[in-house]
Amino acid sequence: MDRFAIRGGVPLCGEVAASGSKNSSLALIAASLLTDQPFELSNVPRVRDVDTFVRILETLGLAAQWKTGDRLALAGGMPASHEAPYDLVRTMRASFMVLGPLVARCGRARVSLPGGCAIGARPVDQHLRGLEALGAKVRLSGGYVEAQAERLRGTRFEFDMRTVNGTQNVLMAACLAEGTTLLENAAVEPEVGELIDVLTGMGARISGRDTDRLEIQGVPELSSVDHRVAGDRIEAGTLLIGAAITGGDATVTGVRPADLDAVLSKLRETGLEVTATDDSIRVRRSGPVTGTHVATAPFPGFPTDMQAQMMALLCTAQGGSMLSETIFENRFMHVSELRRLGADITVDGRTAFIQGVSELTGAPVMATDLRASASLVLAGLAARGETHINRVYHIDRGYERLEEKLQALGGRIRREKV
Ligand code: EPZ
Repeated sequence: MDRFAIRGGVPLCGEVAASGSKNSSLALIAASLLTDQPFELSNVPRVRDVDTFVRILETLGLAAQWKTGDRLALAGGMPASHEAPYDLVRTMRASFMVLGPLVARCGRARVSLPGGCAIGARPVDQHLRGLEALGAKVRLSGGYVEAQAERLRGTRFEFDMRTVNGTQNVLMAACLAEGTTLLENAAVEPEVGELIDVLTGMGARISGRDTDRLEIQGVPELSSVDHRVAGDRIEAGTLLIGAAITGGDATVTGVRPADLDAVLSKLRETGLEVTATDDSIRVRRSGPVTGTHVATAPFPGFPTDMQAQMMALLCTAQGGSMLSETIFENRFMHVSELRRLGADITVDGRTAFIQGVSELTGAPVMATDLRASASLVLAGLAARGETHINRVYHIDRGYERLEEKLQALGGRIRREKV
């Protein structure tokens, strides 16, 4: 088991490139099931979640292999199996997105229910309702979803709430359905837009990108594509908050500023200097950071995946802050660990009240989930003294070589075997 040993107090300065988007990569790997032709993705981050998805493709009888560096070659072809097993799906819930493509392409699928995770129950009812609306027969048996359809038929379906993977799952299925599908209250995250770009490149006919109303004209089959995955906006935001919390001046390249608009405007509200070009963002701290109010929301609102990292920054701000988590019901696991570093946080339901402190103090802490762990790394970089973060496998799920990127910015962080 690895841990990070961090000696805080050094301002992060310099320039670092973001890796490709983990969340986009996962949806695009699922999209490879929609065609029998091979397709390649570049700028794919080498993170554990991607490796897990590759293993799931292999259990379906589909080859995928890493070529040079960040290039992932997906063989395409007809799946030999239609079953995604519990022991893999439970470790990486996004693999539930094989359901829509398998039913659309092969007429049937048996996919383990992903179950809950640390941040919430995370039901998949919207995924299932959407597939049923497309004509699939769906039943639950022994913890698995069994879905069948001779051929999916176009329909009009409205999601009860904004769901990113739910939108992606149903959208992919609709591409091969017979006739026209209208999806309403669809998620508009950049990862949905990127999936639409790739599906369109494969021959799908989709209108309404960047809106919550998608119209899909089904086609009989899809072809291949060679796509470079967009930069990971959440990784970029995490690194930029690293500069902010340590009083530094850092630029992250290979990311679209528009994908982080809500985060950048909140950072400006705290007094940070934020500038951007077409594909890079710079954050510079030239004075005190002052508290502010943040509420997470579906895109274009403040992303829930940046909530924990923003909380770490607000713990060191002057004055009080309020942070509401409106998406997931249990996404404050970082609070008790931040308190161990000296943070002053009170939680009332889904709202955290933060009173900024002048200094955090290093201590051993425990990582619990991907973004909570990232916030502890950021806090450790700002804290006086040494911070040990145990169970960094959580971080390795979604951040590629995070410690190397932070070292490149001057951070005193090293990975240790324990
Ligand atoms: C995606 O998860 C991301 N994961 C999450 O990132 C991200 O936090 C989330 O979107 C919100 O932006 C990937 O893309 C792989 P949702 P997803 O469905 O799609 C409820 C990270 O750290 N809901 O948009 O699973 C759900 O419980 C991860 O990289 C239902 O009730 O999230 C939640 O409260 C964490 N029924 C809300 O909707 C459903 O059928 C939004 O969840 C589906 C969702």
